[in-house]
Amino acid sequence: MRVLVVGSGGREHALCWALAASPLLSQLFCAPGNPGIADLATCVPLGATDIAALVGFARDNAIDLVFPGPEAPLAAGITDAMEAAGIPCCGPTAAAARLESSKSFTKTLCDEAAIPTAGWERCTTAEAAHAAIRRRGAPVVVKADGLAAGKGVVVAATAAEAHAAVDAIMTGRSLGEAGATVVIEECLAGEELSFFALCDGVHALPLGGAQDHKRVGDGDTGPNTGGMGAYSPVPALTPALEATIMDRIVRPALAAMTARGTPFRGILFVGLMLTADGPKLIEFNVRFGDPECQVLLPRLKSDLLPALLAACEGELGQFDLRWYDLAALAVVLAASGYPEAPQRGSEIRGLAAAASLPGVQIFHAGTARDDAGRLVAAGGRVLTVCATGADAAQARARAYAAVDAIDWPEGFCRRDIGARAAAGTGG
Ligand code: AMP
Ligand code: GLY
Repeated sequence: MRVLVVGSGGREHALCWALAASPLLSQLFCAPGNPGIADLATCVPLGATDIAALVGFARDNAIDLVFPGPEAPLAAGITDAMEAAGIPCCGPTAAAARLESSKSFTKTLCDEAAIPTAGWERCTTAEAAHAAIRRRGAPVVVKADGLAAGKGVVVAATAAEAHAAVDAIMTGRSLGEAGATVVIEECLAGEELSFFALCDGVHALPLGGAQDHKRVGDGDTGPNTGGMGAYSPVPALTPALEATIMDRIVRPALAAMTARGTPFRGILFVGLMLTADGPKLIEFNVRFGDPECQVLLPRLKSDLLPALLAACEGELGQFDLRWYDLAALAVVLAASGYPEAPQRGSEIRGLAAAASLPGVQIFHAGTARDDAGRLVAAGGRVLTVCATGADAAQARARAYAAVDAIDWPEGFCRRDIGARAAAGTGG
């Protein structure tokens, strides 16, 4: 099989790593890829949202399966375009990707399908949003309705903060048209959990859970990022909780999408708050998380490629996945200045030695080769340093040993990824 992965981050490197191990694979391509992916796949210099060019490439190169990593190409209709050209693409259509690209779409679906979620209202004017905040009081959550690259959510501890968020997002259009409409939401309290399922429109296979660390600094301080580290499995995700999430959230969402004529295929990322009243949906995403993907795939014992094909073909009902009884933990190395102004161009050394440590895999994200062939930083999140171990403590010790073996003084990471899970005190 000839497979094309779309994207260039640590998530896509992990996907290429898993797919490269498949005995069914004959050739792997990645567009645009990165220097780490180039060791496993042929990198194709096409942007992830250059859909017409990607379809042309897939057709000219007899691609049997396309797997888009990020949300942008999905929201832009890569699945619709590939399928129109007769090329299987494991991801939702643009209509089904609205589960991520429109918060109010998802909240309406939750209400229709009785999926537990925070109370909410959709506001199309700043006046209505201010009034909703006055009615609800603080704490309260303000969300831009559209895609805002992780910057569209303000969890406001005070009403003043919430009103200021509406001024910035709606009146000031700080996020562009993504903020033309906002959702004002009840603030949920509890432990957060990311849960993943592979879906074929009708059936869903659980892929397990992961805990992300979104803030840039130790102890969950500083601004939000794309994610600074993750681990899996999550102790809080018991088999009973997984069954509840599948029965009350995942399957009702699939049924509601099918009833609307827009069945959901691909990876459903279920962002949850484990509240005193049970799990409640914070948001859906329509793809793997980054860095969550990097801790889920090293635990997968089954071949990923036939599972993705079965999802495209509506055959997950007969499918089963097997998992290693291992813990996985990922530490993101970011360029100093991330997330506001990451500095580019500094050289990274010592990766081969770090990657040879037991249980360690290093996935590239924002890296590049300079003219002299040296590996340099070229983005905010630069590397994901992953390790597996018998338990979270061992995976954590191995991942940080690899981090410490990398010679990159201009990079930084959080030092507390998985600390609570490793100590057996929660998470
Ligand atoms: P999102 O971009 O939707 O993932 O939201 C970013 C973060 O905001 C989430 O990971 C939560 O930590 C927080 N958040 C979103 N919605 C709520 C809510 N209703 N109550 C409390 N926290 C929330
Ligand atoms: N790590 C969070 C995300 O991928 O959205």
